Amino acid sequence: MARTGFVAGNWKMHGDLAQNRELLAAIVAGSQTLQNTSCAVCVPYPYLQQVQLMLEGSRVAWGGQNVSQHSHGAYTGEVSASMLADFGCQYVIVGHSERRTLYGEDNQSIAEKFCAAQKQSLLPILCVGETLEQREANETERVIAEQLDAVIDLAGIEAIKNSVIAYEPVWAIGTGKTATPQQAQDIHAFIRQRVATHSNEIAAAVQIVYGGSVKANNASELFAMPDIDGGLIGGASLVPAEFVSICLASQ
Ligand code: G3H
Repeated sequence: MARTGFVAGNWKMHGDLAQNRELLAAIVAGSQTLQNTSCAVCVPYPYLQQVQLMLEGSRVAWGGQNVSQHSHGAYTGEVSASMLADFGCQYVIVGHSERRTLYGEDNQSIAEKFCAAQKQSLLPILCVGETLEQREANETERVIAEQLDAVIDLAGIEAIKNSVIAYEPVWAIGTGKTATPQQAQDIHAFIRQRVATHSNEIAAAVQIVYGGSVKANNASELFAMPDIDGGLIGGASLVPAEFVSICLASQ
């Protein structure tokens, strides 16, 4: 069966009530004709209720940008998967490179977060990707294999069915330097092959999306590649016309 597209906006730490209202209204209006693709926005925790109220009943899903690996307890500042589920989240980003580099998240804790999310029926968007130094040292495949294997080892291959994998080369995030469609395709194909070493069926079905300076003017050529099923969008997800065009390009 052919895979459908998926585009998620990662607002990171941006927005306020007034800006969000405008952005969400434009996304709801622009997404009405979407077919064969899904889209979502992953927003800062305090805005989950606003997003739920504005997106409920629309074609746009929503989610968090991080989740605790713990179900509850004395973890000041953390948010559990059941709390995200309480606000209607369908998705949660796990292992974004900013979490890995700025907040010391490692492959093990990210795998635990992936499992915690799935326990509450959230779909984790698992981010993997190499730094520029790693790419230049020809370590891209090794790094990505380790990031992916940590999750498969803990969660099991069946768990990959209910997830999205996002390939985000760190050197392309927020830099304006997009990977070429071929560079991205090569790594997407590598990820799919790695999953296929466990299950051909799951490898063929799992959505693998690309993130890193995706804009309205480069989305179509990236999404045209056979193993690129959509995108995880940072900066451009804050610009209504850009984000809607990118969602439309994933159809
Ligand atoms: O999660 C999204 C990525 O970090 C990409 O961000 O589109 O601003 O490069 P960007």
